[in-house]
Amino acid sequence: MSAAAGHGGDMGGPILQLLNVESSYGPIKAIRGVSLQVAPGQIATVLGSNGAGKSTILKTISGIIDPGKGTVHFKGEDITARDPALIVQRGLSHVPEGREVFPLLSVHDNLLMGAYTRHDRDGVARDMEQVYAYFPILKERAAQDAGLLSGGQQQMLAISRALMANPQLILLDEPSLGLSPKLTKEIFEIVVRINRERGTTILLVEQNANMALNAADYGYVLENGRIVMEDTCAALREKEDIKEFYLGMKDVGVRGERRWKKKKTWR
Ligand SMILES: Nc1ncnc2c1ncn2[C@@H]1O[C@H](COP(=O)(O)OP(=O)(O)O)[C@@H](O)[C@H]1O
Ligand SMILES: [Mg+2]
Repeated sequence: MSAAAGHGGDMGGPILQLLNVESSYGPIKAIRGVSLQVAPGQIATVLGSNGAGKSTILKTISGIIDPGKGTVHFKGEDITARDPALIVQRGLSHVPEGREVFPLLSVHDNLLMGAYTRHDRDGVARDMEQVYAYFPILKERAAQDAGLLSGGQQQMLAISRALMANPQLILLDEPSLGLSPKLTKEIFEIVVRINRERGTTILLVEQNANMALNAADYGYVLENGRIVMEDTCAALREKEDIKEFYLGMKDVGVRGERRWKKKKTWR
C-alpha cells in the first residue's frame, strides 16, 4: 500500500473538490452552482465582496450547512453534509469569520479545545510548542482569558486552535476583518509560513483582494453566490477588471462592468 493510500488520499487529485454546490438560508439561495478545487499543498482563495457567499461556501464544506445540491469531496471522500466533528477528524479545520474563541477559557485551554479529537499526547504537545513559536504573544498570554486578548490576538488564537487539530486543510474566513493593515500583514505572513513549513493546504476567503492575491496560488472570484472567474493569482493580479474593482477604487462587480463596457461599445 502506498503512503498516500494509507492516508486515504486520492493520489494526484485535488484535496478538496466542490461540484455544483447550492446552499440556502430558508428561501434565500446564498450560493449557486459553485464548483471549485484545491490542490494539495496549495493556498487557494475565494474573493468576493460582503454578502457574495464566501462564508456560506466554507460553512458548507465544514458541514455546518447542508447543501441543497452538489457534492463536496475531501481527499477523495464524499463529505457532503457529514457531521462537522467527523469532518474535523478527517483533517479539515475551519476558522470561522469573527474569530470565535471561548472568551472565558484561557488561551492555553482554547488551544487544547482545538485538539479534542486527538489522542496523541506527544503530538499535541509538539503542536502546542509550534503554535507558540508562530505566535509568541500567545505563549506570553497562555494563562489569560481569551476574552481579554485584542482582536488581532484573538485571530491568532483562532488560527492556532485550528492548527491544534493537526489538519491537512484549513478553511480561513476573512482573517483580515477588522484588523489594522500591519496586523493583517503579520497574520498573512504566518499563514504563508504555516503552508510552506507544515505543508498545510489552505482555502482562504477574503474581501481584502490585495492581501489574498499576494498570499495565494490560485483564486476564484465570487459574485452573488456564483463563481464568475478563476485563474492563478499571478494572472488575476494582471486582469484589468480585478485591478479596477478588487484592487482599486470602484465598487462594481466584474460582470456589472462587462455589461457596462458592452453598452459603451454599442453607442
Ligand atoms: N444566517 C443567515 N440567514 C439568512 N441569510 C443569510 C444568513 N447568512 C448569510 N445570509 C445571506 O446569504 C448571502 C451570503 O452570505 P455570506 O456567505 O455570509 O457572504 P460573505 O461571507 O461573502 O459576506 C447574503 O445575501 C447573506 O445576507
Ligand atoms: Mg463572510
